[in-house]
Amino acid sequence: MSEIKKKYESVHYTDYLQLKKVLDAQHLRSPEHGEAAHDEMLFIIIHQVYELWFKEVIHDLSSIMEMFRNDNVDENNIGTAVHRLNRITEILQVLVKQIDVLETITPLDFLDFRNYLFPASGFQSFQFRKVEVALGLKEKYRETYNNIPYATVFSEQESKELHDLENADSMLQLIEKWLERTPFLHRNDFLFLEAYKKAVDNMLDKERQAIDATDYLTAAEKQMRMNMLGSTDTFFASVLDENKHNEMLNKGALKLSYKATLGALFINLYRDEPILQMPFQLLSKLVDIDELLTTWRYRHAQMVLRIIGRKIGTGGSSGFDYLLNTAIKHHIFFDLHNISTLMIPRSELPVLPDHLKKQLSFYFTTGNK
Ligand code: HEM
Repeated sequence: MSEIKKKYESVHYTDYLQLKKVLDAQHLRSPEHGEAAHDEMLFIIIHQVYELWFKEVIHDLSSIMEMFRNDNVDENNIGTAVHRLNRITEILQVLVKQIDVLETITPLDFLDFRNYLFPASGFQSFQFRKVEVALGLKEKYRETYNNIPYATVFSEQESKELHDLENADSMLQLIEKWLERTPFLHRNDFLFLEAYKKAVDNMLDKERQAIDATDYLTAAEKQMRMNMLGSTDTFFASVLDENKHNEMLNKGALKLSYKATLGALFINLYRDEPILQMPFQLLSKLVDIDELLTTWRYRHAQMVLRIIGRKIGTGGSSGFDYLLNTAIKHHIFFDLHNISTLMIPRSELPVLPDHLKKQLSFYFTTGNK
């Protein structure tokens, strides 16, 4: 005990957490400009809490991205990456849940201090933009309002930082490179793509036969189901044909390269194999992050509708409509969601040759084998 005392100076809770600064950072404007508005305290605190969590998200995300910057990702890091991505999803759930607290501010109570806020807005949250940009949201895919580039609300130095971040590899691009390196897709006696295409054809044939054989559907209903199957068919074809995939990439309908998409598909299909379990979890966490961010955007838009109705935002946007469009458009890992369309039942999955199955398992020898 005395050893520790000698080595490290003691520190008080209040000083370590710099609580004097933190707890002196809530300066309400309403008492200065008119009558004190009770709910302005909550309004400030909740924004500050969000910003603190954004700081933690950036801290975790940057460390994960660092692990993926090498051409050869150290496999030991995958577990840590999954663990930290999981933490980010837990934080995002808290961020979504916090909207319940925010919604205890009624429209009338908000109007007690709203006029003092112009032109301040969450639109000016630098850390929120950093999270979006680091994950992979590119400026060309952003919803804008009044045709103003999103970074104009920041200082020159902050704009530059966002610009540099946008030009560096994002999480999406780092994952793309990692997926492109997925081994096992081509082994002498196992060509994943060919085996998969055959399995898809098989599955679609069976579905066609099943529709044809049902006796509870009318001819028109059968036709409708066949047509629907036709469109799934087209979707499989377009995603599995490299040229078509590249056309969709050029149009901005897809973001992940063909090779990376195949890697993600392989991991998802054979995720029961021991070696693929961690990579599968990693991809699932990214899907979770995308889903939770989208949920936050929807909840924030709904909350705005509830508190200010169709009024414009303090930052000058159309308010609810603008926010709703960001929820629809600002998906980052949509290609990973798309993989679900390409999944086939376990029963249809091409059987892996023994040597490949062995490479995908954890095994060790105790004797002289
Ligand atoms: C009464 C509470 C709130 C209202 C009425 C509100 C309203 C709005 C509106 C209308 C916008 C669109 C930009 C504008 O015209 O200003 C916006 C953007 C935004 N708000 Fe809020 N907000 C509230 C609370 C919060 C909180 C607590 C946060 C947490 C940080 C937040 C974060 C954001 C962010 C990040 C954006 C930018 C969204 C984007 O451009 O994708 N807002 N808010």
